[in-house]
Amino acid sequence: MNIQEIIAKKRDKQELTKEEINFFIKEYTNNNIADYQASALIMAIYLNGMSKEETVNLTLAMANSGDILDLSELGIVVDKHSTGGVGDKVTLILAPIIASLGVPVAKMSGRGLGYTGGTIDKLESIPGYKVNISEEEFIKNVKKIGISLIGQTMNLAPADKKIYALRDATSTTESIPLIASSIMSKKIAAGANKIVLDVTYGSGAFMKTKERAKELADEMIEIGRLAGRETVAVITPMEEPLGKNVGNTLEVIEAIEALKGKMAEDVKNIVLELGSNMLKLAGRGNNLEENKCKMMENILNGKALEKFKELVVNQGGDVGYIEDTNKFEKAKYILPVVLEKKTEQDSRITEVKNIDSAEEEANINKRIGIVKELKAEEIGKLSVFLGGGRIKKEDKIDQAVGITFNKKIGDVVEEGDIVAYIHANNEEKARVAVEKLKKIYVLN
Ligand code: URA
Repeated sequence: MNIQEIIAKKRDKQELTKEEINFFIKEYTNNNIADYQASALIMAIYLNGMSKEETVNLTLAMANSGDILDLSELGIVVDKHSTGGVGDKVTLILAPIIASLGVPVAKMSGRGLGYTGGTIDKLESIPGYKVNISEEEFIKNVKKIGISLIGQTMNLAPADKKIYALRDATSTTESIPLIASSIMSKKIAAGANKIVLDVTYGSGAFMKTKERAKELADEMIEIGRLAGRETVAVITPMEEPLGKNVGNTLEVIEAIEALKGKMAEDVKNIVLELGSNMLKLAGRGNNLEENKCKMMENILNGKALEKFKELVVNQGGDVGYIEDTNKFEKAKYILPVVLEKKTEQDSRITEVKNIDSAEEEANINKRIGIVKELKAEEIGKLSVFLGGGRIKKEDKIDQAVGITFNKKIGDVVEEGDIVAYIHANNEEKARVAVEKLKKIYVLN
């Protein structure tokens, strides 16, 4: 068997055998196949696709390319994964709620790359919180308090790491078999027996349409089934950022507020939808609506917030910041963003007919428009521009910067309304960001 024959087979739209896929993954991980050969094969897969069987074989080969975490002593462990978003603080809220209901949460999360954020960067906003602990300590923590959230300390799915970097550099990211196998290989290696997926679609997601997101979800569910890991997927929109804030510290504060019962509606819908499915997979009740009620109960009685505090203390973090979020370091410049009313020729006001009263007319005259678009991808890039995300893996991030939204899609904007705030640590960047954000807001 050699790599040239394997590339030629895929180039000619033939199906690869399990042995051929295993050979490619093993030899590429061991640096016996060159990047240019791996790139050619990945491009052939991107163009010609893979059968379900090939995708499962690729997933298992990648999962087995490094360490496999053994969580069997913890019983049923349900993992959660999102295919990516902007302003996505769901794990920070969901994990303590689920743990407070007695279901163990042993989760390895990622860092942000490109315009999407990562849970581990967010957790590092909490002074002292250790994201890198040993496998033994990780399991010990889950046994002790029912929850641990850490970064990827082990050598999980190294083949995926190499292939992912190649895909990034060769424009082969948006391929359903490649995304599905990449995500599922890491989930399998991270030891979960059951998996709940948040598959996003829209401007801030890999999948731009709901139909493509559904296709990706079906593929991952099937991989889970064939790999013996029951998998459920929830399809969620990512047209605009999730919740009210984008930025590491800002999102942690929003998550703490959510655990105190003040949760933005879009965040709440996703948290409850994912959580009710996690409880179902963990054998805690088949009725999703009842599961949602149990989750809300533990928010309202304070148990979910208590569990979050326990998590922070147990991982070395300063719980004082959770008790009083004013302690978090703020950005030096917090500038309001106000949209201007356009001239007659360039009006953002849609024609309004049948005005019933003088009061109504006065209100409509004050109105600049209704928010029609607030593209998540553009907002993610703006956050990176402020220093809140990374372009390269080694980039250092600024925890305090970001954007707070007062107005999102569907909201009416009147003259003088502050639609958002820019949080920055550089005055010039803050001013540029205000102008950029004004352009990102599209009104009707
Ligand atoms: N997330 C992953 O881990 N892999 C992909 O290919 C896409 C999103």
